[in-house]
Amino acid sequence: MKSVSIIGVGRVGGALTIALAKKKYKIENLFFRNRKELNVAQFLNAPPKELFVNDYSQINSEIIFITTGDSEIEKVAGELAKKLRGQPYVFHTSGSLSSKDLKVLNEIGCRVGSIHPLVSISEAVTGAEHFADAYFCVEGDPEAVLIAEKIVLDLGGKSFSVKTEYKILYHASAVTACGHLVALIDVAIEMLTRCGLDETEARKMLMPLVKSTVENLNTQNTSEALTGTFARVDVKTLENHLQIIKETVSRDILEVYLQLGFRSLHLAEVRGVDQKNIAEMQNKMLLAKKNIKC
Ligand SMILES: NC(=O)c1ccc[n+]([C@@H]2O[C@H](COP(=O)([O-])OP(=O)(O)OC[C@H]3O[C@@H](n4cnc5c(N)ncnc54)[C@H](OP(=O)(O)O)[C@@H]3O)[C@@H](O)[C@H]2O)c1
Repeated sequence: MKSVSIIGVGRVGGALTIALAKKKYKIENLFFRNRKELNVAQFLNAPPKELFVNDYSQINSEIIFITTGDSEIEKVAGELAKKLRGQPYVFHTSGSLSSKDLKVLNEIGCRVGSIHPLVSISEAVTGAEHFADAYFCVEGDPEAVLIAEKIVLDLGGKSFSVKTEYKILYHASAVTACGHLVALIDVAIEMLTRCGLDETEARKMLMPLVKSTVENLNTQNTSEALTGTFARVDVKTLENHLQIIKETVSRDILEVYLQLGFRSLHLAEVRGVDQKNIAEMQNKMLLAKKNIKC
């Protein structure tokens, strides 16, 4: 059985506490900054020593998770490096930071890594259920990665690795697929409000369309899942779209439409549609893009 200490018992730290305890990890210490967080100790078989920050000298666990917010991780790592007596495995769960941000612990002999669950955890109890079947990005010292993979397996998740220097690009990808998707839908909602619909109505109406598209991506690659004007290389409809967006919405949104349009056209090309139509559509879009700048 692996013994664990968790520093920062918020959404992810709380969820990990509950999920690891269920998998027979021994939760030895929980480090809080204040006690307003959910009392996760009630989900554990054996009560942990609940401690406040800066009491790291008492840690004796084999594994330490730093699950504070990103901006606190380096500071906590520095404090740990000053006070730790053993050489445990230390992980953080940030998507944008890498094991390099735990360098100070590596220098005192700890094996360090990051374990990022690619799911959204809004609170600890339901979050503990979300780890099963989730993908986790793990990176760090080879020995730490092996332990991270075992932890992910125990949680019922699937691990994959990226090189440490690409961890931030991995995170940019996650933001593109998640946060930017929301921003994109916000753009579509704005267009619908110009048609006279209210915002809530517009958001609800778009959901079946968005859900079916995401469902298609579950089984088809991106060029197969592409539907609509660009998949059909429909030049006339494209022209009408460009004109109405320019006239009734904004240049910024026209730019977003065009930029994604170039990518969609590339997907249509991969699928093998008529090259002549592709070239015609591309020329119309390049002209519209040039005109935005004027
Ligand atoms: N939530 C997600 O969906 C998600 C998903 C994947 C990865 N992550 C990553 O997981 C990490 C934690 O995110 P989160 O969403 O769980 O944040 P969170 O809910 O804000 O939890 C962070 C917790 O750490 C505590 N804390 C901060 N500094 C501390 C310190 N020095 N000592 C002890 N406790 C401290 C905070 O206490 P206070 O309440 O006093 O601030 C808070 O309870 C981040 O690196 C984040 O990027 C989050």
